[in-house]
Parts: sequence; structure tokens; C-alpha cells
Amino acid sequence: MAATAPTITLRRPDDWHLHFRDGNMMKAVVGETARHFARAIVMPNLVPPVVRGADAAAYAERIRAALPEGARFTPLMTLYLTEETDPADVRAAAEAGIITAVKLYPAGATTNSASGVRDFKKVRPVLEVMEQIGLPLCIHGEVTDKDVDIFDREAVFIDRTLDPLRREMPGLRVIMEHITTRDAVDYVRAAERNLGATITVQHLIINRNHILAGGIRPHYYCLPVAKREEHRVAVRGAAVSGDARFFFGSDSAPHLDHAKESACGCAGCFSATNAVSAVTEVFDQDGALDKLEAFLSLNGPAYYRLPANEERITLEKGEPVAYPAKIPTPEGELTVFDPGFPLHWRVVG
Ligand code: NCD
Ligand code: ZN
Repeated sequence: MAATAPTITLRRPDDWHLHFRDGNMMKAVVGETARHFARAIVMPNLVPPVVRGADAAAYAERIRAALPEGARFTPLMTLYLTEETDPADVRAAAEAGIITAVKLYPAGATTNSASGVRDFKKVRPVLEVMEQIGLPLCIHGEVTDKDVDIFDREAVFIDRTLDPLRREMPGLRVIMEHITTRDAVDYVRAAERNLGATITVQHLIINRNHILAGGIRPHYYCLPVAKREEHRVAVRGAAVSGDARFFFGSDSAPHLDHAKESACGCAGCFSATNAVSAVTEVFDQDGALDKLEAFLSLNGPAYYRLPANEERITLEKGEPVAYPAKIPTPEGELTVFDPGFPLHWRVVG
């Protein structure tokens, strides 16, 4: 008799940091996320950005309309914080249940972040409302100064910006997005309250050699850029530890191949398609499958003060799963993140 395949059942995962884009790109990728995830925090860095509550409501409607027939998926919307953001609009959008968080991009930090924040004093009234009502602030934690080395921008952001902000506003509920350094892991671990962090698929798996050694690999380039190996090890250690302050945010960020494979390639890895399998493989490699549900399905909702999903998914271990390498869109293809090792865990129900 054949041995039965190992399986693992967990509450349906959520993705606490995701880019859907809009239009044809969104239509091509929403199903990739909705297949395995119940909810996702949807990033607002469209062109133009999602700034007002009404923009977020309209965008949520476009996402829902693009979902495949029968999908059970809830987009959790965010507003893009600008120096002109109206605190009353943020409060109203939160109270109406239109938004779940606000996103802070330091101006110029990443894709479509030109209308982000330069002068933190200007957004203080919005942050005060958020502190008051407990609305989470998702932060892209990198300084943008040209004189700071790109590999140091996260660590410098913690010292120069994040820590002073949190000391000034200890009641503000912050999520440090897509952390990539030991510095960020240590900083989050040291926080007693009101700080969580998301971790992507790629930062569990790649270091900067994957991007640069033996040829430049644009599909591994994202921001914050992957750092040296000791940082990857620290980030991975935080994810598999089960510590409730760390949870999954894919930062799946679709760009067409021609925009990535270019003299000035865009930042972003697209991982929605195989993220659940890849994260499960990572936890299996580290002997931490007992912490998988915490990372994918429990820690995020707990931090966001939302109920965990009641629905379950089951993964089965067997022959490597053949995920598509590319996703077609009417404007061209996009490349699915290649973890560089076979994925044995398949979502079966
Ligand atoms: C994201 C994108 O493409 O929108 N890119 C990325 O490299 N992660 C933006 C972001 O989250 O920084
Ligand atoms: Zn992102």
C-alpha cells in the first residue's frame, strides 16, 4: 500500500502587502491572489495614487468586478499618504469601513512614490487621527537620500525616521513593510507594542548575490533590495519563529517583462502565483511547519485586529508542482518569482 502523502491544514492565508495595479494588469493578476488568499492589503501606489476614501472605494469595486466567478476574496484597501491628505477624509473612510490602513512612502523611495511624504510635520494631523482611532500605518521603511547607500537605506530609516516617529507617537500602530535586514528584525523584536512587520517570499529566499552574481537578474530586483546573506538569515529566522509581530506580506508587484528587462528595470517581484507553496517549502526546509499557520494566517489578523479566516486550506507534499513561469496580459507577459528550488507543497483544497 502506498504511504499517504503528508498534508498540512491551516486557516486560509491572507497577504498583508500586495500590488494589484489597475486595468488589464489587475485583471490578469487578481485571480492569482484570490486562488489561495482570503484577503489582501492592497497597496495604493497607482498612477495617480489612491489618495481619498472615494478613490479607495472605487478601486475596491474595480477589484471585486475583476475577480473570477465564485472567488471568495476581500480586498482590504489603503490610502496613499500625501502631504495634502485630509485627516477628516481618512477618518471618514476608516469609519465607513472603506479602508483598513494608510500607506506611507517616503517621496521617491520606490515605484510610483513621487507624491509621498517629504516633510513629516505636514502629515502630523493625519497621524494623530490614526493614532486616535487605531488605524494602522504601513511604512515603506527606506530613506531616499542620494548620499545613503541603497543597502543601508532601511537601517538608516529606522534610526532617522521610524524610531523618532514612534517615540513621538507611541500610540500609532505601525507596520514596517517588507523588512530585509537584521536591523529591522532586531528593532521589531525590541518593540513592546504597536509595531509589526511584513516579510515577503523573496526576502526569505534570496540575498543580493542572487541578483548580481554571475549576471544581473532583473526578476530578483525589488525594493527594499535584498541584502547580504546574514540579513536574509535573520529575516527568515524571524518568520519561522512564530513571533506574532512578524507576518506574511508578499509584496507581489507585477511589472511587464519588458519593463523589468530593461536598461532601467522596474523594482518588484511577482510572487502571487506560487507564494503559498514557496513559503510552505521554506518552513518545511527549516523544520518549522508548526509555525506556518501563525505566519500565513494568524499573526497578521491579530495585529490588524481582524478575525482570522474560518475557512481552511490543505497543502499536500509530493512531486514538485509545475507553476507557470509567466502570466499573460494583453500588453505582454510577466514573470513569476522563481524560488530556485522545487516546490513540493501543493494547495489541494
Ligand atoms: C513595489 C511596486 O512595484 O509597486 N515594488 C517593489 O520593488 N517592492 C513598490 C514597493 O512596495 O516598494
Ligand atoms: Zn510593495
